[in-house]
Amino acid sequence: MAALTDNWIKPPSTNSLNAIGEGVIVDIGTGDGRFVYQSARQNPNKLYIGIDPNARPLEKISEKIHRKPAKGGAPNILFIQAAVEDLPSELNGVADEVHVHFPWGSLLRAVATGEITVLANLRRICAPGALLEIVIGLDPARDQTEIERLGLTPLSIEFIDNQLAPNYQAAGFETIERGILAASEWPEFNTSWAKRLQGNEGRAITYLIVRAV
Ligand SMILES: C[S@@+](CC[C@H](N)C(=O)[O-])C[C@H]1O[C@@H](n2cnc3c(N)ncnc32)[C@H](O)[C@@H]1O
Repeated sequence: MAALTDNWIKPPSTNSLNAIGEGVIVDIGTGDGRFVYQSARQNPNKLYIGIDPNARPLEKISEKIHRKPAKGGAPNILFIQAAVEDLPSELNGVADEVHVHFPWGSLLRAVATGEITVLANLRRICAPGALLEIVIGLDPARDQTEIERLGLTPLSIEFIDNQLAPNYQAAGFETIERGILAASEWPEFNTSWAKRLQGNEGRAITYLIVRAV
């Protein structure tokens, strides 16, 4: 679980083609962009791309990143308005890391049921050897309506290994690590929804780290 404690995967990229030198990190379903912003400020030599179909929560931060770095700016961030189902072809093969943190809606359905067409989109934006990290925080009681609406199967290690992993493999990913952490074992996550959801006893973390092959 060391890879999850600071919210981005190490070691950094070996991709020598990226623009900023130490890797390109894509955050799908970036929400208000907090993870991208904090990470980009800490890692000025990496390029961070935050993607979400809903641009509104990104309005504030989109202005802030254009300030001078001393005043909170971050020239190493791009935000793109897009859904995972429709990622721009310009992103093909660029990502050294892809993150999906606390997804909901069709993004959650895709990663938690292993929809191969959507997983193939994630694979399409990955450089060879790129890592994809998925972090899901569901509460079976509180999220029951959404779980039923999306047709989700409860996330167990058995389900991940027997149902999800083969679909991820079919999309071009091999499983590196997976696990389920009780609410009391949540690592530090630098995202707004992590902060919002943390502390609820019924909400376990299910995580999956896979590599583009
Ligand atoms: C619960 S929020 C999590 C936001 C952020 N990752 C965080 O941890 O704070 C889920 C995000 O997934 C986005 N989302 C939902 N469906 C999506 C899709 N099909 N493609 C990309 N993003 C999607 C939503 O717009 C929302 O911003």
